[in-house]
Amino acid sequence: MADQYVPALRWEEPPEGPVVVLLDQTRLPAEEVEVVCTDVPALVGAIRTLAVRGAPVLGLAGAYGVALAAARGFDVGEAARQLSGARPTAVNLRYGVDRAVRAHRAALADGADAAQAAATTLAEARALHREDADASARMAEHGRALLEELLPGGGLRLLTHCNTGMLVSGGGGTAFGVVRAVHHGGELRRLWVDETRPLLQGARLTSYEAAREEMPYSVLTDGAAGSLFAAGEVDAVLIGADRIAADGSVANKVGSYPLAVLARHHGVPFVVVAPVTTVDPATPDGAAIEIEQRPGREVTEIPVPAAPGLFPEETPAGVPVAPVGAQAYNPAFDVTPPELVTAVVTERGVVSPVTAAGLAELCSPSRPATSRSGNGMMNS
Ligand code: MRU
Repeated sequence: MADQYVPALRWEEPPEGPVVVLLDQTRLPAEEVEVVCTDVPALVGAIRTLAVRGAPVLGLAGAYGVALAAARGFDVGEAARQLSGARPTAVNLRYGVDRAVRAHRAALADGADAAQAAATTLAEARALHREDADASARMAEHGRALLEELLPGGGLRLLTHCNTGMLVSGGGGTAFGVVRAVHHGGELRRLWVDETRPLLQGARLTSYEAAREEMPYSVLTDGAAGSLFAAGEVDAVLIGADRIAADGSVANKVGSYPLAVLARHHGVPFVVVAPVTTVDPATPDGAAIEIEQRPGREVTEIPVPAAPGLFPEETPAGVPVAPVGAQAYNPAFDVTPPELVTAVVTERGVVSPVTAAGLAELCSPSRPATSRSGNGMMNS
């Protein structure tokens, strides 16, 4: 069924374009509606309201956003500034923006005119798109092989949090890509889908993808995970990441860290799946990761499913569930320390145990494409 997916993001050439077209993830699973971004402010708005979300596809949005500015003759530097600042935690967004800006600058420095520089920038965004799709496929292979090694015999009950599939990627995604590979191999007994409060990326988006893939899956409230572990119903946890610091600390959707603590308590592997572009050597540790704080109404209200979007700027689309004026604590992400992470799976291979040295070695550009860092089990 995967070929029938509406892509999370696509570039449209004239006569409709140049535009960036997004599948509006705030409307899923009720309806598949596309949003057409004709300029960078529209794209920045779509990133902030989570019409497009998830680390790898944010990198693509950043790169295509710069390409859009260049193609339409807008100020590329200003566009890059706005795009990079749209959300602070996912390092892939900045990576995509910076890569496109570098391509644009290099073209101009080489004597290209504005149209040629715009074409070069678009080519860079497209290259990143292809690389992301390729990375997804490799992560799925490495992740499945790791699970076979850790949990031989199949029949796996995997728990995941947030959404990490085709909606976050130019390809099959990160953690969900591994789940899909396990499912296609006939080894998935059940996918446990954390609903992922407050914006329900699990209940709305992962379930949407799991249903399309005809997986056996169940949605649970985030708070129900503890009793599921206690009942011995979870064989492994698989999540993605928005940023991995140099020491291996993992920022991911809020609620990931409690799962890591539960997993450790119950002796269950806790596996993070992310492309090497999510590893940020410039962020030394978890404390240095900027955590996005989101509007309190995402917590104090429940979105109305029939309303367009989750929480549109202007209209009161939510049903209040807390008293008027209630304060809310609403970090979008939390940080899991490396000692609670069993393994980080990247397109280049697996780091386990998760150490600064192991990560640096695996992410080094001179490293072979497939390897295991840390315990030598899969060195190529
Ligand atoms: O706030 P979101 O929906 O953008 O958060 C997304 C996540 O936390 C994902 O788990 C993360 O980006 C990894 S996706 C590959």
